[in-house]
Amino acid sequence: MKIQFSDEKLKEVKELISHYPEGKQKSALIPLLHVAQGEFGGWLDVPVMDYVAELLHILPIEVYEVATFYSMFNTKPVGKYLLEVCRTGPCMLNGSDQIIEYIKEKLGISEGETTEDGLFTLKPAECLGACGYAPMMQLGKTYREHLTKEKIDKLIAEARAGKN
Ligand code: FES
Repeated sequence: MKIQFSDEKLKEVKELISHYPEGKQKSALIPLLHVAQGEFGGWLDVPVMDYVAELLHILPIEVYEVATFYSMFNTKPVGKYLLEVCRTGPCMLNGSDQIIEYIKEKLGISEGETTEDGLFTLKPAECLGACGYAPMMQLGKTYREHLTKEKIDKLIAEARAGKN
């Protein structure tokens, strides 16, 4: 299947690229990767990255370098709910390791894995800038703060019920 944005998305992409001066279209790479990840199943497959390279007139390797460097981009398929649990210092001191272990046990997956039903992926992350609310995780566009096992139970139950 040919990878291609819809006409509407393509318009949005062209608008994004137009924010940068002529010859500097590469600067639109990160915004474009966000759009591509949102459009093509929550992750960036090689053909998707190649398509982005083509749109920006840059080499595919330049896209791979960026996509694999930033943790906000997924280069493997992820579940509908991506649990990005921060494990940096302040979160760790406030129990992120126990939260990660609890999620692993509860969902029967290891770090970086997705549950068989395709619902959850566990992806430990580095500091997400919400240290004052440690331990925390990013779930889609939201932050879940002061995590406890009870909060994890509730979050998973709600996700399974389609409430998240
Ligand atoms: Fe977890 Fe900063 S250390 S948000």
